[in-house]
Amino acid sequence: MNNKTIVMSVAACCMAVSSLSLAQQRVTGPIVIQGAMPVEAERFAQRLDNPQELDIGGWRFWRGTVDGYPVVVSETLKGMSNASAATAIAATQFHPVAIINQGTAGGHDPALKVYDIVLGKYSVNLGAFKTPRKQMGEGSDPLQWKPMDLLASKGSAGEDKTPHTIRKFPADAQLLSVAESVKESYKKGNVVEGVIGSADMWNSELDRIHAFHSNYQTSVEEMETASAAQISAAFNIPFVGIRILSNNITNQGAYDPQTGLACQDYVYQVVKAYIAKVQGQKPE
Ligand code: 5AD
Repeated sequence: MNNKTIVMSVAACCMAVSSLSLAQQRVTGPIVIQGAMPVEAERFAQRLDNPQELDIGGWRFWRGTVDGYPVVVSETLKGMSNASAATAIAATQFHPVAIINQGTAGGHDPALKVYDIVLGKYSVNLGAFKTPRKQMGEGSDPLQWKPMDLLASKGSAGEDKTPHTIRKFPADAQLLSVAESVKESYKKGNVVEGVIGSADMWNSELDRIHAFHSNYQTSVEEMETASAAQISAAFNIPFVGIRILSNNITNQGAYDPQTGLACQDYVYQVVKAYIAKVQGQKPE
């Protein structure tokens, strides 16, 4: 064996070892459940067996089990920056097999009522836009703004001349189908697949909401999912967003904070179904 062969076989051996441990991580890593506010996270944390609270930076996590399988509840805090940081921390600290971002949202679709649940087949960032050029005194019209895909290139987003299509952060197909599989158990409203729009904004202008709904097919808006989805994708972690309508001004649906509890109860059923599936797939 010459030196080159030795180096190559050592490399092959190490690659095999590291891919084996990655495969093990994929079977044994926890499921992470994210909720922005205490009312969106604490109920789930209370349902964990043997919970242990961990504070990392400004974020709270609770590690425990459901049906003997590891689950981490993460209180992301509100907004895109908080959600992305909490997702990156979860990814590096816990090596999750899946991340579910869940909580409340405001309706964009007049057909959806408070307590309906949207399973996000994908999410979009409703805060990434490029305005047309206007002179002083010409005002500002957000309905003219074009989406700006911040992942499209490494060059200046402002100078990018290519047509602007909104970036979609898709759900993991298996997580989405597990989320669908328990919908008959939910009695407080309908469960539908839809599009989740996220931004550090609370929109109450009906024309703007209508434009988002018709241009980007948004079912609901909130402030975290697209951000958590983007960071999960960067770490190659299966992701789904599940959002309950707590308000819908397109059909006079009044705000109800109790919806945050109902969403956690739904997601608890999703997690149990996912665990049953993962445990069925485990090699003996
Ligand atoms: N617009 C924006 N965010 C909303 N949320 C609930 N309803 C809305 C809405 N109509 C969620 C956000 C954030 C908090 C304010 O509640 O995700 O965490």
